[in-house]
Amino acid sequence: VFKVKIASTGAVYEIPGDKTITALLEEKGVKVPTSCEQGLCGTCKIKVLEGEIDHRDKRLTPEQRAEGYLLACVSRGKGDQLVLDL
Ligand code: FES
Repeated sequence: VFKVKIASTGAVYEIPGDKTITALLEEKGVKVPTSCEQGLCGTCKIKVLEGEIDHRDKRLTPEQRAEGYLLACVSRGKGDQLVLDL
């Protein structure tokens, strides 16, 4: 379990182990565009302002990872909280 915080609203949501970030946000009414849902296409890319990312996609380049991008349909947080630039 880790949390995501929406930078623009300050809302914090807990992501359970059996749910993706995009699925949980959709439930909460926060729209993130998705397509493949498998970490392949890059549609769900979100910039992370704070926190450590557990990358599980097959798409982002090392440069994009270094810049703090996350593919929210598969990747997760490693620590307590990710702050998302949404
Ligand atoms: Fe395709 Fe996330 S929806 S990479």
